[in-house]
Amino acid sequence: MSARRASVSVREVSVRYPGAAGEAGPAVEGVSFAVEAGEFVAIVGPSGCGKSTLLKAIAGLVPLAAGEVTLSGGAETRVGFVFQSDALLPWRTASGNIEVALRLSGERATAAKGRARALLERVGLGEASEKFPGQLSGGMRKRVALARALAYDPAVFLMDESFTALDAQTRIQVGNFFLEILAQSGQTVLFVTHDIEEAVTLADRVLVMSRGPGRIVRTIEVGLARPRDYYASRFASGFKERQQAVWDALGYSHGGGAAGGSGGVRGCVMRGWA
Ligand SMILES: Nc1ncnc2c1ncn2[C@@H]1O[C@H](COP(=O)(O)OP(=O)(O)OP(=O)(O)O)[C@@H](O)[C@H]1O
Ligand SMILES: [Mg+2]
Repeated sequence: MSARRASVSVREVSVRYPGAAGEAGPAVEGVSFAVEAGEFVAIVGPSGCGKSTLLKAIAGLVPLAAGEVTLSGGAETRVGFVFQSDALLPWRTASGNIEVALRLSGERATAAKGRARALLERVGLGEASEKFPGQLSGGMRKRVALARALAYDPAVFLMDESFTALDAQTRIQVGNFFLEILAQSGQTVLFVTHDIEEAVTLADRVLVMSRGPGRIVRTIEVGLARPRDYYASRFASGFKERQQAVWDALGYSHGGGAAGGSGGVRGCVMRGWA
């Protein structure tokens, strides 16, 4: 079992992709925030604003141009990344992809097979366990990737649009399974999503990023009671107000249309959120 609890601290982080003749501007600039151990933080913002880049920077997959990322468990902290693209091993079956993560966690081959199967059942893929990624739909591959991250048993989940490709019912099923695991084990989550309802349903806090170079322009405290339900929590009292606060931070006023003047992500909402 990995260390279950770890906080994440991001200080003044900038990321710059190498561009031809160095003309590329920063993808992420001067981003600072902290995620407490066991906290669930969602990140929303327009397409291309640097959300995936920020997660990759935290995972150490892209170099920082400036700033610092600290995990309270140090370099040993297990970080599970569910990429926007599913990043499965194409030469292994659904079950095989999960077994790899379980073997890395020290599980023996036979036990790993059984547990991989059980995880796939929980994400609704019991029948697909022997299929290869190329034989699965996008939503099915996303679920295998989620099951693999769960199998890896990380202290911190970095999740990039993890539920986006799923149909509404599967999303509720998988979302609630994930919430159940978090309630049991208290992992820390940083969750990127385009879906504002989903962000408010799941998170303790929502960070709103501006169009690139990505900066955090607003933090909305959700503060709704736990346990949450991926479906029913949307009808909890106070939900609409939180949702509206996120829309407002994105530059939308209550009357509809991009407000632009509210300090949000001015004038980019329509392009970014098509
Ligand atoms: N490997 C790369 N090389 C060069 N530029 C990149 C690379 N990856 C991303 N970028 C650029 O960095 C910026 C941020 O990209 P990123 O993928 O982080 O956005 P995002 O917020 O995750 O968008 P989306 O919501 O569409 O997934 C964009 O301008 C993108 O073109
Ligand atoms: Mg992205």
